Amino acid sequence: MREVVEICVTRDCEGPPIAREIWFIVTRFMQQKHETGTTMSLRCGLLAALMLLTSGASALDNGLALTPPMGWLTWERFRCITDCEAYPDECISENLIRRTADLMVSEGYLEAGYEYLGIDDCWLEKKRGPDNRLVPDKKRFPNGMKAIADYIHARNLKFGLYEDFGNYTCAGYPGVLGYEQLDVTTFAEWEVDYIKLDGCNVDRYRMDEGYPDVGKMLNATGRPILYSCSWPAYQEDHMLRSHQRDAGFLLKDSISDSVREGRWRGSGSSELLFTGQNTTAKAITSLLYSPNYKSIAKHCNMWRNWNDIEDSWSSLLGVMDWFGNNQERIATFAGPGHWNDPDMLLIGNYGLTVDQAKVQMAVWAILAAPLLISADLATMRPEFKEILLNHRVIAINQDRLGKQGLRVFQKKDAGERKGLEVWTRELSDGSYAVAFVSRRDDGAGYAAKFTFEEMQLPSDDYLVEDLFDEVPERKLNSDDEFPVRINPSGVKFYKFYKLKQNDNKSPPQADIVD
Ligand code: GLA
Repeated sequence: MREVVEICVTRDCEGPPIAREIWFIVTRFMQQKHETGTTMSLRCGLLAALMLLTSGASALDNGLALTPPMGWLTWERFRCITDCEAYPDECISENLIRRTADLMVSEGYLEAGYEYLGIDDCWLEKKRGPDNRLVPDKKRFPNGMKAIADYIHARNLKFGLYEDFGNYTCAGYPGVLGYEQLDVTTFAEWEVDYIKLDGCNVDRYRMDEGYPDVGKMLNATGRPILYSCSWPAYQEDHMLRSHQRDAGFLLKDSISDSVREGRWRGSGSSELLFTGQNTTAKAITSLLYSPNYKSIAKHCNMWRNWNDIEDSWSSLLGVMDWFGNNQERIATFAGPGHWNDPDMLLIGNYGLTVDQAKVQMAVWAILAAPLLISADLATMRPEFKEILLNHRVIAINQDRLGKQGLRVFQKKDAGERKGLEVWTRELSDGSYAVAFVSRRDDGAGYAAKFTFEEMQLPSDDYLVEDLFDEVPERKLNSDDEFPVRINPSGVKFYKFYKLKQNDNKSPPQADIVD
């Protein structure tokens, strides 16, 4: 009973704890109430559950992000470079933003759909002003943020800005905690169109209330401000690690025999897969270990789920693996108005080959992921630019049905087709996008065949279009297998049109997560 009382006492039953904790409290109470006869924990648990149900009743209602947001963001490429004398073309500054704004227009990025131009961390002075307002770095942004907004808006782009829900940003600049209303008002005055609210330097369990609160403040400004949350990214890993022990306890002592016979398989700190067949156990595992995605999707237009992407093929694969391994838990929360975010595009930088860049573009299209370039547009090589501007692939990403696609085939162990994956997304016009990814490194293109079942396509007759325009259009009959040949660490990305299909032309609408 001690742990139950502690949870209630330490939180004083004042705020709505996260669902995991309520579930934990109630389970433990039911398990032990006969031994202790204590009613305090029940009161606390029920009160907390009631508060959770009644809190955050109003959803984010800004009409934005009906398709995944597209734009450009400083962080992955330009990090926290603040020394403009040493790195005049790379430091986070008015100069970089103006130059990028001009290039987004002149080089066709805006026309292709990339409309948000965002400044990530490191734009601030280290201290707030005398009126407690946030102050942009005086040397690097000498004209302030409203001037930046004006420059961006004059080019029909939209202005994105980074802040952090905690006391400090991840790079140590002032965060919004304690100044939420003042800062939201300031953002609206500066005519910001997009806020990325990071989650460093704050208790993760404050996020379940704090992020929705800031969302409501953004709504109340009357200015449509896209709200990008980092809330789940900070909860995912932490929840897994800190509750493995509790989960073991619960499974051993509280749940049915069949669950008890299941086995846990941990791989690193990032994955904990239940290998038993029992669906109740799987549901319980999800509840225990998952951030509250229902609430996140209700209050945010997009949200980072996982770790930062870095400039390498291995980092890209790590992010893809996380999204594939967790798709059952997260994919259904994506849709018009609210999207899972696997992080920025690496394309155009140092770490990916042209083939690997195509992999990221294809998989991000399947995932209905926000497309945020983070590269120097002034030095972008044409072969990377072509990938970023590929209108067919962008159209897949922006499909108005907004249904996140899934990794439907994966061969990890030795033998034929080892290292191949298939990712499939259903589209609004009844067609499908299918990405065949190879993680192999054995020199030549690898030829393989896939059944309809493996691609998770309804068995039908299709016309198949190569979205990267590498092989001519072809037909696939319902009784055939589909042959592909994929470059090492590369992708083949196709659209499968049913030969007889209905065209659905209704416009997209934000779907309400209730
Ligand atoms: C975190 C975020 C990154 C970036 C940095 C800035 O690591 O996940 O995307 O915003 O902070 O400090």
